Amino acid sequence: MTTQEKIDLLKQKNEEALLGGGQKRIDKHHSQGKLTARERLELLLDKGSFQEVGKFVVHRAKNFGLDKQKFLGDGVVTGYGTIEGRLVYVFSQDFTVFGGSLSETHAEKIVKIMDLAMKNGAPVIGLNDSGGARIQEGVVSLGGYADIFYRNTLASGVVPQLSAIMGPCAGGAVYSPAITDFIFMVEDTSYMFVTGPNVVKTVTQETVTSEELGGASAHSTKSGVTHFSCSNEVDCINKLRQLLSYIPQNCEEDAPVYAYEMQADETRPDLDKILPDNPNQPYDMREVVEGIVDQGSFLEVHKNYAENIIVGFARLGGRSIGIVGNNPASLAGVLDIDSSVKAARFVRFCDSFNVPLLVLVDVPGFLPGTDQEWNGIITNGAKLLYAFSEATVPRVTVITRKAYGGAYDVMNSKHIGADVNYSWPTGEIAVMGAKGASEIIFKKEIAAAEDPAKKLDEKVDEYTEKFANPFIAAGRGFIDEVILPHNTRIKLMASFKMLENKVDNLPKKKHGNIPL
Ligand code: HXC
Repeated sequence: MTTQEKIDLLKQKNEEALLGGGQKRIDKHHSQGKLTARERLELLLDKGSFQEVGKFVVHRAKNFGLDKQKFLGDGVVTGYGTIEGRLVYVFSQDFTVFGGSLSETHAEKIVKIMDLAMKNGAPVIGLNDSGGARIQEGVVSLGGYADIFYRNTLASGVVPQLSAIMGPCAGGAVYSPAITDFIFMVEDTSYMFVTGPNVVKTVTQETVTSEELGGASAHSTKSGVTHFSCSNEVDCINKLRQLLSYIPQNCEEDAPVYAYEMQADETRPDLDKILPDNPNQPYDMREVVEGIVDQGSFLEVHKNYAENIIVGFARLGGRSIGIVGNNPASLAGVLDIDSSVKAARFVRFCDSFNVPLLVLVDVPGFLPGTDQEWNGIITNGAKLLYAFSEATVPRVTVITRKAYGGAYDVMNSKHIGADVNYSWPTGEIAVMGAKGASEIIFKKEIAAAEDPAKKLDEKVDEYTEKFANPFIAAGRGFIDEVILPHNTRIKLMASFKMLENKVDNLPKKKHGNIPL
């Protein structure tokens, strides 16, 4: 072969690789409203930044005629590139090659970029679109999955791992995304389940569609498996890029800081008007968040799941923070199993990756009832307590209204290691609500009264005056300062700045034993 012929051969192979499973399959894929693996990467990464690794990899299988069906790349496009100039490692499964199914070599390609990501300290983003294990390969495919799961686990807390589900993701394949930090799903075209509708029908006699069983809607509202439900693939890719802007490259670094020019007046007068006069009336904690953070910077995570707590990223003076807030607009902001687990997972992500935590508290307590008790509110509530207690990032709390009972302790109280604790003057910090408390401690007095209802009201007023305020806690130093709502942003900017170089270490141990 002449040199020119060799160059031409390379060009020809490159072109062949770009076609994946061939034009016909690409056309079919497009006709279903889906982008190809390469088109997705083009949208995800900065223009021209993608460097492919393993373009000519082919499978080694021989059974079932596979030796005659080889496609360059073997169903996954892998490599690295940049997002807003920052290095990321990527893999994007190509459904046009054996349905994106995972062969031994397909897995090896993913493993290779995961290993590079770990050594070089940069996030891994997986775009999943796969029919699962390459059926013709049998156990070597299962081994390939396990090689990935193992690395997902080792990489957890070292580099951020993001998973987008852009097609099928079924069987054991779901466990790689499940170990990663955040899952994004595309509405109507993606689904995740351990067993599909046919198996469900056989085993439980339930009739259910793929979408109902494991679509973006089910997983963003019912199971909480997915953190972001995206209206289409472009929306999904934009959200992936947006999320990265709040988080660092790895656990040794801090999140990027965005330019922010301090305004002459950083007070936010609207914050004074959010709380209703009646302490039993709801309001949306998102209004408080929007009032505090840099305008338009709040990216809510798990928006439609366990809505009694909100979690998400935002910026304060250009710096990333993670926010956890009880939301009185849903179930009065009570802590239950789902909200505890949702918040605990978010707190642990922030702590793993050096994102300071702001905690907004308005919580009447834990949700009572057999449903909660029998499903383990004790163990699950403890997850949030444990996650906060263990977090060593800067932690600041603002109590806007209720902070009752055990939930006061759990919601980033001073006692479990919070650095700065504020309360608005509307704070109510006590063992329990005034009515419940009065009924217990003044039981005999109320029963003996001529007019028990009137007596109860009197006692409720007495208790409220004595305990349903922030001043007793402030008198103890459990609250550092009672602040005016309109000054909250200023106070938080000052306290997070003060905590910027915080160093705190946990006692030496192999690892703790979070109540899973
Ligand atoms: C090999 C596969 C494949 C697979 C699909 N294909 N899944 N090849 N292994 N797992 C191939 C098809 O043969 C077809 O090839 C092409 O991909 C497109 O598939 P279609 O069926 O035509 O597409 P569609 O109608 O869109 O249906 C997609 C699908 C379906 C729902 C994903 O293909 C399907 O049900 N596949 C099998 C899913 C499955 O049972 N996987 C194993 C799960 S167990 P051609 O040549 O026609 O283009 C598992 C265990 C993992 O994954 C355990 C990890 C621990």
